[in-house]
Amino acid sequence: MTTLKGKTAKESLTINTEIVLPNDTNHIGNLFGGRLMEWIDKVSAITAARHSNRVVVTASINNISFDNPIKQYSVVTLEAKVSRAFNSSMEIFVDVYVEDRITGNKTLCNQAISSFVAIDQNGSPLPVPPLIPETEEEKKRYDGALRRRQLSLILAGRMKPEDATELKALFDKD
Ligand SMILES: CC(C)(COP(=O)(O)OP(=O)(O)OC[C@H]1O[C@@H](n2cnc3c(N)ncnc32)[C@H](O)[C@@H]1OP(=O)(O)O)[C@@H](O)C(=O)NCCC(=O)NCCS
Repeated sequence: MTTLKGKTAKESLTINTEIVLPNDTNHIGNLFGGRLMEWIDKVSAITAARHSNRVVVTASINNISFDNPIKQYSVVTLEAKVSRAFNSSMEIFVDVYVEDRITGNKTLCNQAISSFVAIDQNGSPLPVPPLIPETEEEKKRYDGALRRRQLSLILAGRMKPEDATELKALFDKD
């Protein structure tokens, strides 16, 4: 089997900027969580497609944290990066920032982690290039990706907890 050439996260980095319009808000005037999830899914899918140069599908959304409410008319920037690639699947991190209108400073408001799979025309998984982490943050996310994958597979009923070696190691004392 040929191993595909590794790619860095910045090669597939995808940045999407949105403005929160009235149609995107809930009854208290904040960005509706479902709309943010749609934006996260789209920007993540583009990143995964750029990394793999394949058609990709969402396999799982592993975590989304809604840390701060986002007000109507806020300018929201989503930055999506591949944190690790396995065989056919890729973990994607999205950092969501809100921009201060006066200073232009960006505050991190949300983070999301999902898994995408590259597929062929029949929906069968295809191999993807390995990810080469470069920065300290990329290396940290790369290292944690295996245990997040194991947790996701357990929750999906695709892995037995006793086989999750990386997860178990977290709880082993020595
Ligand atoms: C995701 C999908 C392609 C997996 O196909 P499959 O035939 O079950 O393939 P496999 O069991 O070989 O899994 C393929 C990869 O997906 C990963 N995967 C599957 N489910 C996963 C989950 N819940 N979390 C993380 N990774 C998952 C596997 O670990 C495997 O990764 P690897 O190749 O890197 O080792 C298939 O389930 C599918 O098409 N699902 C629907 C996707 C979709 O329609 N998404 C849109 C949102 S509704």
